Amino acid sequence: MYGADSVNDDDSERTAFRKAEKKYRLYYDHSTKSSKRKKQPRPVDLSEVIDFKSVLDSFNRNNELPPGISVLQRDFNQPVFCLENRPGFYFIPGVLSIEEQCQWIKESLTSFPQPPNRTNHNAIYGPIHDLFIAAKERKVFVEEESLSTGLDCNSNFPSGDVNASRWKFSEGSDVLSRGDTRKSVSATVLLRKLRWSTLGLQFEWSKRNYDVSLPHNKIPHGLCQLAKKMAAPAMPLGEEFQPEAAIVNYFGLGDTLGGHLDDMEADWSKPIVSMSLGCKAIFLLGGKSRQDTPFAIFLRSGDVVLMAGEARECFHGVPRIFTDEENAEIIHLEQQFSCEDDLCFLEYIRNSRININIRQVF
Ligand code: OGA
Ligand code: MN
Repeated sequence: MYGADSVNDDDSERTAFRKAEKKYRLYYDHSTKSSKRKKQPRPVDLSEVIDFKSVLDSFNRNNELPPGISVLQRDFNQPVFCLENRPGFYFIPGVLSIEEQCQWIKESLTSFPQPPNRTNHNAIYGPIHDLFIAAKERKVFVEEESLSTGLDCNSNFPSGDVNASRWKFSEGSDVLSRGDTRKSVSATVLLRKLRWSTLGLQFEWSKRNYDVSLPHNKIPHGLCQLAKKMAAPAMPLGEEFQPEAAIVNYFGLGDTLGGHLDDMEADWSKPIVSMSLGCKAIFLLGGKSRQDTPFAIFLRSGDVVLMAGEARECFHGVPRIFTDEENAEIIHLEQQFSCEDDLCFLEYIRNSRININIRQVF
């Protein structure tokens, strides 16, 4: 479902969804005029992107809503917006406090990628502990030659990761010595290449399903409470959302999430609760067919999206994140992460977006 990015150019405009992905995606224009050949992001027309922050502002000011957008008539402590053509889709702009945003950014980088939770790095490196600390300490991840050919070198790895060998963090200075032929990669690079981690019931990407036999921890209590509160506007009356799994997506500049459906959960009347953290992004919400022209919507840090019922059958994706100062809209995070101990989080989030999407599986 997430592998839809690698299409060749011939296919790139075959559907309305692809066309929109191409419109918003980051491309560089290579200017050959200057001798430095500086690459410039290609300008993009954002005039058709729905901006729920300004929808909220004008709704609060004069009770006005743009055509096609309505407000949910249900008890919640701030307006919940709906798209009239996409029943089951809900947008709650800026609902997470700055403190909550910072808390979940920190957890996403420190505790969420910890084993037994899996990440995209598992298949190659096996479980990695304390990646964020290692990156902060400029450590290097090194393949231990002698053990990688050992007898049961794969015994520590969950199924599906049988090719993993034993990797360990070393001080950067240790491995830079000449003549060292071991394979190595810096923790900073691994952190930049972290694309997903899975919490609670583990999603098995190769099978596109949840593998309940894999070791896992319950969704952390605080996240569970938050997800239950946020899910309430989209829940069938009288029922409480049960968070059982979450996928955390990490986006750097140029990273995208191709159009997909999340259809591996049993009961589509329950919402997916999707929280945005860090740099602003564009979300595409299509229809049930890739031929349907998608809505483009800004996602900012602190926004929550709910997709339930019919909206669960709608293609969606993220073709663009903005890391430049004007568009990222993370000044509030820069202020909050200003103390010495938090600068490492700021350094990461200045160029990144994190999405935590929480699911009830059964
Ligand atoms: C997903 C997803 C959207 C986002 O992970 O399934 O749709 O906002 N994420 O990153
Ligand atoms: Mn999705």
